[in-house]
Amino acid sequence: MTNIPALTVRQNPDIKYLGKLLGDVIRAYGGEELYKRTEYIRSTSVDRHRGLADLEAIDPGLDALTLDETTAFVRGFMLFSLLANLAEDRQGVAAEEGASVEEAVAKLADEGVDKDAVLALLDKALIAPVLTAHPTEVRRKSMIDHKARIAELLLMKDSGEQATPEGDILDDAIMRQIALLWQTRPLRRERLFVTDEVQISQSYMKDVFLPVLPRLYAKWERVLGARLPNFLKLNSWIGGDRDGNPFVDADAMREALSRAAETVIGYYLMRVHAMGAELSISTELSEVPAEVIALADASGDDALSRKDEPYRRALSGIYARLSATHLKLCGHVPGRPSSIQAQAYDNPQQLREELAILAHGLRSGGSGVFATSGALGRLIRTVELFGFHLATLDMRQNSRIHERVVAELLKEAGVEADYLALDEAARIKLLRAELANNRPLVSPWADYSEETAKELSIIRAAAEAHQKYGPDVITNYNISNGESVSDILEVYVLLMETGLYRAPKDEDGAPHCPVMAVPLFETVADLENAPEVMTEFFAIPEMQQLAKSRGHQEVMIGYSDSNKDGGYLTSTWSLFKASNALTPIFAQTAIKMQLFHGRGGAVGRGGGSAFGAIKAQPKGTVAGRIRITEQGEVIAAKYGTRDVAEANLEAMTSAVLLNSLEPDNNDQKVQASFASAMDSISQVAFAEYRDLVYGNDSFRTFFRQMTPLTEIAKLKIGSRPASRTKSDKIEDLRAIPWVFSWAQARVMLPGWYGVGQALAADGDMAKLQDMAASWPFFQATLSNMEMVLAKSDMGIAARYAELVEDPDIGQAYFNRIRSGWDQTRDILLEITDQPHLLAKSPALFNSIELRLPYIEPLNHLQIELIKRLRAGEDDPRIGEGIQLSLNAIATALRNSG
Ligand code: PGA
Repeated sequence: MTNIPALTVRQNPDIKYLGKLLGDVIRAYGGEELYKRTEYIRSTSVDRHRGLADLEAIDPGLDALTLDETTAFVRGFMLFSLLANLAEDRQGVAAEEGASVEEAVAKLADEGVDKDAVLALLDKALIAPVLTAHPTEVRRKSMIDHKARIAELLLMKDSGEQATPEGDILDDAIMRQIALLWQTRPLRRERLFVTDEVQISQSYMKDVFLPVLPRLYAKWERVLGARLPNFLKLNSWIGGDRDGNPFVDADAMREALSRAAETVIGYYLMRVHAMGAELSISTELSEVPAEVIALADASGDDALSRKDEPYRRALSGIYARLSATHLKLCGHVPGRPSSIQAQAYDNPQQLREELAILAHGLRSGGSGVFATSGALGRLIRTVELFGFHLATLDMRQNSRIHERVVAELLKEAGVEADYLALDEAARIKLLRAELANNRPLVSPWADYSEETAKELSIIRAAAEAHQKYGPDVITNYNISNGESVSDILEVYVLLMETGLYRAPKDEDGAPHCPVMAVPLFETVADLENAPEVMTEFFAIPEMQQLAKSRGHQEVMIGYSDSNKDGGYLTSTWSLFKASNALTPIFAQTAIKMQLFHGRGGAVGRGGGSAFGAIKAQPKGTVAGRIRITEQGEVIAAKYGTRDVAEANLEAMTSAVLLNSLEPDNNDQKVQASFASAMDSISQVAFAEYRDLVYGNDSFRTFFRQMTPLTEIAKLKIGSRPASRTKSDKIEDLRAIPWVFSWAQARVMLPGWYGVGQALAADGDMAKLQDMAASWPFFQATLSNMEMVLAKSDMGIAARYAELVEDPDIGQAYFNRIRSGWDQTRDILLEITDQPHLLAKSPALFNSIELRLPYIEPLNHLQIELIKRLRAGEDDPRIGEGIQLSLNAIATALRNSG
């Protein structure tokens, strides 16, 4: 018997309740036999985790399953995890200290930072979650929707209700939803298109972000006692990020923008309609200001029944104009068109002004009951935040493609025959010369390559979008693989072709460009060079002028690729150092720095608590401005319901306030000594990681055979292909399948490899403990790693290693990984002074321990199915079973991709 200490896992009562219902559903729909087999495996697995059974005890239960039973069993375990996630989400985001704006403001006040300082910061602030379509969400939207419905029903149950407002008994209604989940196919059969991704994101916008953001502002205004500027906004990449996704083209982008306009205008129409029903104020009973009367008179609503109701009439007019705007921007009338002919709004400001007239009117009368203008105030805020474009859309493309396109344009125009052969200085010189005048390079008679034609058409679509929706529709253009100044200038040259970039009018003037080119530094070397690149960039007078005219310049830093390149510790440290080193460069120019953090859900892709991560950013690097990607499964977890979204946006905002305004307590000397220790530790970790992953080509074979990489690439979870090229090099693999594969095999290598060896090599335990106790960066690095270690399992991983065809290769690499893991765990426990992982984080410990027994059997089944598939068995249920197991394990691990 293996000697696993029995640990006490506290059951969440919701999990017990939902788990019991799920058991009933399995019995009712899958039959008594399936139920019994599932239950046998479940209880044996739980026993094994309590130290009461061997790893092998589960095998007879698993071996007894037929292929049909296997898929049903996997679905059952997946649904358990789904329901466990739901139960946890109901407990709210971890109650981290200061995770609300109110708490942050109070904490700051205690530290001598008053509300005026908070308001001054917010005045120049931008906090923007950026939704992306990175393919890590394995669940279909229908599953997510059933889950949300169960959450709603549980909320009713919490408030003591027995039945829904429609009269359904709550327990029955919950049971029905679980039965629906059981009968809903979890896997997508068809591939996902960009339009599907757009549609999924729109449902979050409509159901969550549009109502939640104004509600939050109203709450924060009560805390701060002042009207707040629009510092928290929502941005998106969906339909604009074409890096490695050939399906994002000009049409896809137009479609995304048009859908967004449809969603937001549709939402305004609904709100205006509802207010029309409510604001029945009569001129006979109330003093109504002349501006409101004038708006009502101009509305075109001459119904006699509303003659004395100017607010209603004015709202009819607003509704009619919105309806016309819908036709103009979306190409068709809304579902409930207005019967009044009206002129479309030219821009959202016009709509806002009309709403403001009504708000002012309401405030001016009576005893001040309408002083805070409720629904109308929230709608005004919504219009300010979402305009007619909904979420500002970023564009993204790879610098290699820009280079080729610019080279072709220059060649066709007879300017430069071989741009790609030029060195950086020559490129910069040439590009600056192009940017100095507004002469177009593109010729209508030239026959461009498909790539160039496609790139030009999407940039033209961006210019059209500016005409149609206004300047807020696209403001940032991210350049993947950014490594030099010419990478940035190339984008401006391309934007110049459509008139988006305009050369300065005179020598001292600034160029004009409503779209900011943003380099994304994403390898360890590029992060190291980032400060130098930005110094050179600002040394170009017209570029400095351009950034000054905006007041800020963004730099994007990539977590996943730097991790794949240099391992967890070096990536984390390089990101920290780059942010730090960039700060003085910006300070010298008086241009505000805006860092854009490209991170995913898994720790190997920069995941972990956003609140902790923002608070742990180097001092001075946030200063009120930050953008962060929100991807895949993280979107449903953080923004799945309004309450959860509200809590997460609060946490993000309060972390920004705390990081930006809290006095720094660590004195500089201590920081310098910590930093030099980290430099050495990082070097060792880097060498260890690089040697393992890139030291010998046989590692590629090991990785591909040990993990379900090939099967992951077949999951229909995103519109973009899993890989940019056909090469099998780790360098060319996208970070998502890399991280995803290691998670499934329970190794989670990107979240820890190399750390233990490096910390042990340092050897100064007192200093490491001091760093862990007093340095937020180091604390966050260790605590994220600890979570990853707790979710990994070398016993299970050993079984995956047996999938490697050549046992010598399999064992050699696996032994190295296993001993690295042991070393990492041991030293982490010593530094943090804990008897076992997560001993000081009981909530997380419980959450993970509860899930482990449900994941392990899935791993065993997955391995068996992969063996059969690779041995040439062609029963389609094997492939389906593998895909289901990938889905189920990802659901259970929560942040796996
Ligand atoms: P990318 O993203 O592959 O789109 O650059 C990397 C990631 O977020 O993992």
